[in-house]
Amino acid sequence: DQSGLAYSVGTTLDRFIKLKQSDFPFASGELSQLLRDIALASKIVNRETNRAGLSNIGGAFGQTNVQGEEQQKLDVIANIRFIRALSKGGEVCAIVSEEEDAVIDLNNKSGKYVVAIDPLDGSSNIDVNISIGTIFSIYRRKTPVGSPILEEDIMQQGTEQVASGYVLYGSSTMLVYTTGFGVNGFTYEHSLGEFFLSHPMIKAPESGSIYSINEGTQEDWNPGIKEYIDDCKVKKYSARYIGSLVADFHRNLLKGGIYIYPATKKNPNGKLRLMYEANALAFIAEQAGAVATDGNKRILEIQPTSLHQRTPLLIGSKNMVAEALQFSNKTE
Ligand code: AHG
Ligand code: MN
Ligand code: MN
Ligand code: MN
Repeated sequence: DQSGLAYSVGTTLDRFIKLKQSDFPFASGELSQLLRDIALASKIVNRETNRAGLSNIGGAFGQTNVQGEEQQKLDVIANIRFIRALSKGGEVCAIVSEEEDAVIDLNNKSGKYVVAIDPLDGSSNIDVNISIGTIFSIYRRKTPVGSPILEEDIMQQGTEQVASGYVLYGSSTMLVYTTGFGVNGFTYEHSLGEFFLSHPMIKAPESGSIYSINEGTQEDWNPGIKEYIDDCKVKKYSARYIGSLVADFHRNLLKGGIYIYPATKKNPNGKLRLMYEANALAFIAEQAGAVATDGNKRILEIQPTSLHQRTPLLIGSKNMVAEALQFSNKTE
């Protein structure tokens, strides 16, 4: 019974954001507007995603990004859409994006917030009609509003996030976010053009029976990870791996499971990026009662030292991650 609450399943995202503004007693509404800007850009990317097969926006863009990945056209389109929405919104002073080598300084004298974003997650799945996503982290700048952006405004630990979230362009399109008061999920209704609250106060199961890892690279893992995955097989857990972090994470968050992108010989620090992949999902995970670690340290407490820095990631149900760590620490 939700009759005592001001919101319930079916509340629109806009209304929900407005109602939840009271979680921040001194908030002036800028964070709320920023979340709305992100929702708007995600609707546009959703539209592009839905018709990708028809409108000649599939395939490679013809350039590589700073991490040496071949950019897909939709990577570039999503990057442009989000940057445009965040610049026009007026609340943001700087953006870190997977698709941009350097920090984008918006020269916005009134912007209080810094956003780190993976505009399009799961690039390899675009052309084969499989779920993809967007991941975002929001920080408050440390230096005074209106002064030049400094390194300390950008290089913040995940614990400093004021909000984070993701959009999953899946069988339904969903936006899931947290501002540090639980995790709420919204499902997009195409004909109305609105996100509606569908998954209030998401709680991750403490245990689960799904493991998600790219097993093709197992020869390159440390032996502990290999032993843990062998144990998952002994227990007859289900292997599920989409190759879009957002989709793999979302499934495990709801059903109970563990996602691992370990250090490999090719990627000694793992593949996933701390600032716009791991941190955002770690914040969501913890808010839902799950956990996220690099194998030694809580993801949210890693001090970033470079924009595109990578980190190994073990994320998901509490008990599963604890067990995986027992295996991986044993053999170190
Ligand atoms: P992105 O498309 O933003 O570059 O991210 C790709 C990431 C992530 O989505 C996914 O989980 C992982 O790469 C898959 O990597 P492998 O193909 O090495 O398994
Ligand atoms: Mn990429
Ligand atoms: Mn990604
Ligand atoms: Mn990406």
